[in-house]
Amino acid sequence: MTDKKATLTINHGDGTRDNVDLPLLEGTLGPDVINVGSLTGKGYFTYDPGFTSTASCESKITFIDGDKGILLHRGYPIEQLAEHSDYLETCYLLLYGELPDSTQKDEFFTTVRHHTMVHEQIRTFFNGFRRDAHPMAIMCGVVGALSAFYHDSTDISDPHHRTVAAYRLIAKMPTIAAMSYKFSIGQPFMYPDNSLDYAANFLHMMFGNPCESSKISPTIARAMDRIFLLHADHEQNASTSTVRLAGSSQANPFACIAAGIAALWGPSHGGANEAVVKMLEEIGSVDRINEFVARAKDKNDSFRLMGFGHRVYKNFDPRAKVMKQAADEVLAELGIEDEMLEIAKRLEEIALGDDYFIEKKLYPNVDFYSGIILKALGIPTSMFTVIFAVGRTVGWIAHWNEMISGSYRIGRPRQLYTGYSNRDFTPMDQR
Ligand code: SDX
Repeated sequence: MTDKKATLTINHGDGTRDNVDLPLLEGTLGPDVINVGSLTGKGYFTYDPGFTSTASCESKITFIDGDKGILLHRGYPIEQLAEHSDYLETCYLLLYGELPDSTQKDEFFTTVRHHTMVHEQIRTFFNGFRRDAHPMAIMCGVVGALSAFYHDSTDISDPHHRTVAAYRLIAKMPTIAAMSYKFSIGQPFMYPDNSLDYAANFLHMMFGNPCESSKISPTIARAMDRIFLLHADHEQNASTSTVRLAGSSQANPFACIAAGIAALWGPSHGGANEAVVKMLEEIGSVDRINEFVARAKDKNDSFRLMGFGHRVYKNFDPRAKVMKQAADEVLAELGIEDEMLEIAKRLEEIALGDDYFIEKKLYPNVDFYSGIILKALGIPTSMFTVIFAVGRTVGWIAHWNEMISGSYRIGRPRQLYTGYSNRDFTPMDQR
């Protein structure tokens, strides 16, 4: 706590004014925040649609400096985690606050491995979907339904229940994701192979079949693992804030994660990776880039360069840099000449040299290159946001648990009401 404060002077417009002292709270990093909680008692609400200037909570999990392009998970830079760590170790870090020692790491990996199967009854759920259902629609439905099966991990007041729910969600998301893909192509579901690491197991369930043993390329498995890692958490983004809000009503963890999946689906958020690939396909060749850049700048055209811009980053998204390097490596190692990567690199060059993008500080974000790698790994476009959801599950759970294990109140924003004042019912013959 500090004795720093902001003094708000309210001019009532009738010559009178009030001064309201609002305490400032200091974080470890980032801007101070003004605690406006007392304003309701003074007869005021704050107004901040989109929460551009609003801190919704206190957190110790992830820090982002948008101007400098910095992303820290429990203090560790994302670039170092991407180079030296792996997804499950980063899961442990996000959940428990420290990197695991070798014993803790083995225990965590083993426990996650032994939660990878889903209840056999869940397999029948899929028959209720059309084969051409979008995998994100299936993910919303099936993950939400997990609360119908795992009653021994839905008591949010019990730390053991919360831990088991975390393991189950981290472990089962790849299984359910792969099932949603297999269902869409009419192939049999693959059971997890617990002799494989997390990403390799996912690829086994995605591309394996019962007729032959899976051959998982270590290069592809490492790239897949790094993609999960780069998507693991990102502070109070739209889907994480959705999970926190759902959790604040004391809904069970499976329902909260299903809410996060739904929020992630939008093309402004996690759906952007799928939209980027569709945009690059529509551009089709380097010669048409300027046409699309012009459209993105045209106020009268709703078209936006997907994969560009970010509410927080006004510099390069550090994840995009790692993703771009990974794209080069994976395509080189796989010997893939992908014109789409060339279009993406040229588009980035042109956009970053254009005054519109420079002035609005629009840089490539995490979604700009991820689709190119995923395509190179053989992941179908419709599964791109599902991959994002698999990676982000640990971030959602870490934030949910941080809130539930601390002190919290139900999230209940207020509004600026501009509708009708009180009026009497209008009889039909007067309408
Ligand atoms: C993710 O929050 C997170 O952390 C999210 C995420 C995470 O890990 O959880 O990082 C993941 O969601 C990344 C973002 C993926 N989305 C996209 O790539 C979709 C394209 N980008 C935009 O729609 C947009 O940039 C947002 C949604 C990402 C951010 O929107 P904001 O902060 O509300 O910004 P804005 O829409 O108010 O735009 C500010 C200005 C506007 O121009 P003016 O009205 O001021 O003249 O910039 C323009 C916009 O028109 N602009 C773009 C643009 N993005 C913003 N113009 C062209 N192309 C774009 N991509």
